Amino acid sequence: MSQKHTTILGIESSCDDTSAAIISGVKIVSNCVSTQKVHQKYGGVVPELASRAHQELIVPVVEEALSEAKMTLEDIDAIAVTRGPGLMGSLVVGVSFAKALALAINKPLIDVNHMKAHILAHFIEDSNTNRPQFPFLCLTVSGGHTQIVEVQSPYDMKVIGTTIDDAAGEAFDKAAKMIGIDYPGGPELDRIAEEGNPDQFSFSKPRIAELDFSFSGLKTSILYNIRDWVKEDPDFISKNKIDLCASIRKSIVDILISKINLASKKTGIINLAIAGGVSANRELRRRLSMMEQEGFKVHVPKFEYCTDNAAMIAIAGKFSYDKGAFASQDIAADPRLKW
Ligand code: KG4
Ligand code: ZN
Repeated sequence: MSQKHTTILGIESSCDDTSAAIISGVKIVSNCVSTQKVHQKYGGVVPELASRAHQELIVPVVEEALSEAKMTLEDIDAIAVTRGPGLMGSLVVGVSFAKALALAINKPLIDVNHMKAHILAHFIEDSNTNRPQFPFLCLTVSGGHTQIVEVQSPYDMKVIGTTIDDAAGEAFDKAAKMIGIDYPGGPELDRIAEEGNPDQFSFSKPRIAELDFSFSGLKTSILYNIRDWVKEDPDFISKNKIDLCASIRKSIVDILISKINLASKKTGIINLAIAGGVSANRELRRRLSMMEQEGFKVHVPKFEYCTDNAAMIAIAGKFSYDKGAFASQDIAADPRLKW
């Protein structure tokens, strides 16, 4: 007779994606993500509008996740929710909803750290065929964070490098904006770059010691170079858009790859992984995968588990559930939640 797997409802609302997912064992049975469109015309996420949209979307998204999984609330053993880091108004919607639902169905509540969840997405059954072995280094790159994390176990993670200014995703989005690509420009810049020459233009490289990152110098270099080129030829951007995208992408990916290399040298860890929205970047995925030839073991998650999603919250919740680490009803959303 087959044993019933632990079934967890995961809820994610830290930024501008409202998402609900259900995990049964380590298998995701539904993962519904509603990306808020309202921010596009403002060129960035407007916190007030994000929390309002989460309020409207959260019930339909949870209902959709249940219906896709062909389940009812009675099948759920626990509710996992992102407690932080993220936008306060956005987090509050998910946390309040999860607390109320846990009370209503009398099931345990689990609080999840969004950044740790990005990393734990590697352990979803269908995320990748070769899950990372411990210890591994994870380059966690999103719109708000850029970190190198030393992962000893699902419960033991340490940040060993971080950005001192912008995050990698922010660098992609800001550079994209400079060449007329709408927010969030990262994915579109990546798509256009596929056809371009990455060596056509070069920008200044940061000189940051050790494992920390900086993208503000690169951003200024891109801005000033483009300004000068446009002065000489007003149509410069439209004539060179494809090569600009490829060259900008290469500059950002070069920085990320050099730091993960350095982190491996320093720690002696050869298992490497990427996580977070920017890990959807094709060039980053290729360059990291090529490191297999140099003896590294590389782990790249499925596209759908790279950008914000509740499947990663559900798998993180599963690890906490197995350890009996539950949250009480007095937890609060924490925009700066620490590790
Ligand atoms: O993890 P995520 O979905 O949300 C945060 O927690 O921030 O990451 C979003 C970021 C955005 O900056 C977006 O432009 C970037 O990830 N991103 C990409 C790609 N897909 C998403 N950047 C470059 N290339 C991509 N393919
Ligand atoms: Zn994220």
